[in-house]
Amino acid sequence: MSFVTRRKPVQAAPRDPSHGLKATLSWPHLTALGVGAIIGTGIYTLTGVAAGLAGPAVILSFAIAGAVCACAALCYAEMASLTPQAGSAYTYSYVSLGELIAWVIGWSLILEYTLVCSAVSVGWAGYASGLMEQAHWAVPKALLAGPDAGGMVNLPAVFIALAVTGMLLVGTRESATVNFFLVMIKLIALAGFVAFTLPHFDASHFHPFAPYGYGAHEADGKKYGVMGAAAIIFFAFYGFDAISTAAEEAKNPKRDLTIGIVGSMLLCTVIYMVVAACALGAQPYDVFSKSPEPLAFVLRQLGKPGAASLIAGAAVVALPTVIMVFMFGQSRVFFAMARDGLLPRRLAGVDRRGVPVAVTVLTGVISAVIAGALPLSDIASLANAGTLAAFIATACAVMVLRRRSPELERPFVTPWVWLIAPAAVLGCIYLFTSLQAKTMIFFFAWNAVGVVVYLLYGRAKSVLAPA
Ligand code: ALA
Repeated sequence: MSFVTRRKPVQAAPRDPSHGLKATLSWPHLTALGVGAIIGTGIYTLTGVAAGLAGPAVILSFAIAGAVCACAALCYAEMASLTPQAGSAYTYSYVSLGELIAWVIGWSLILEYTLVCSAVSVGWAGYASGLMEQAHWAVPKALLAGPDAGGMVNLPAVFIALAVTGMLLVGTRESATVNFFLVMIKLIALAGFVAFTLPHFDASHFHPFAPYGYGAHEADGKKYGVMGAAAIIFFAFYGFDAISTAAEEAKNPKRDLTIGIVGSMLLCTVIYMVVAACALGAQPYDVFSKSPEPLAFVLRQLGKPGAASLIAGAAVVALPTVIMVFMFGQSRVFFAMARDGLLPRRLAGVDRRGVPVAVTVLTGVISAVIAGALPLSDIASLANAGTLAAFIATACAVMVLRRRSPELERPFVTPWVWLIAPAAVLGCIYLFTSLQAKTMIFFFAWNAVGVVVYLLYGRAKSVLAPA
């Protein structure tokens, strides 16, 4: 079999030894897990960026991105229940689409996870800097923003990326209780935002509704329009991998995973649309769209500095957990790729306490450098490109395996798969083409480098390579 098409059998790969196999999770845990990983910089910060691209019609962008993600999430659930192994979309591609595509997806996931850590760090820094300013801390402006925003380096973003790296290195794991607590903080803060802004709702801010139109179109290096905003706000919805990788631990996978995945996607979509509508109702979109801390900014504009500090405080306390989830995800992808021989084992090695030191330090340092230097919208767009590739591959994997191996036991079955999976693929392709041109160019360049690395290393070192 050629290296392009060689595949791992669905059941043959060893199960992830770090994965607890006890079926202890029910749908409330799974929903909390999903909401914990999903709600982050997307709603807290990118709402402003996306509103600047679509105007009030950004609410539709949220609905479109949420619908595409929900379709992809259902495909993830089936694949996760079929092959409950580390590696997410990389592993799903390897058992269905062949080694070369799996490699490209793994390489894209490495890009995604690193950049999500950077993007959430920049989002965190926006709120942390706002709080420092409120507290009259005299930090030079040049150290609070990257070169694009007139500064030198975004030091708070560098700090949080390295701080989370440090926490992971000393073996910090987020417990279910801590996760639940942080989810509550994030939700209460968003509910508080709605409560504070609703009395100031002014429907006139919604006219004109879609000043930049619907289809994505590029100007000044950015993609405007409802679809351009959807392609960036898509960032706000992913993270539900966290649920699909817990497929093995669900008490009743069919029921619990459906409610957990669909429930957390629906919940987030509704919350996001309500929060965005309240922000838009309280202040015209062009007032807050450029703020690095748009939700707190809106409240300050309304003369509520105390409420602004509470929202900022919630973001500062709760957002690092999103970075932690993605840094952990990165180590699992490396682990799976190294186990298959496609990456050097040394990179994915764990120390005596089970901490993947090399990959954590590598991800942390690269995320910190990117977070310190680049603008949030560019980082998030590129993270989205990698994620969209992974979603497309997962939806294709579901369809391929339904055809090729209908007999496999599927604890979770994607409903209406011939509708949902193609909708996920087409929706993701449409979102991908709505990304800014430079993002697409960088994404393809990254993968071209990846293919060269594969041809030089993984093709021969793969455990599936002929001896
Ligand atoms: N969905 C996550 C966030 O918005 C990545 O931060």
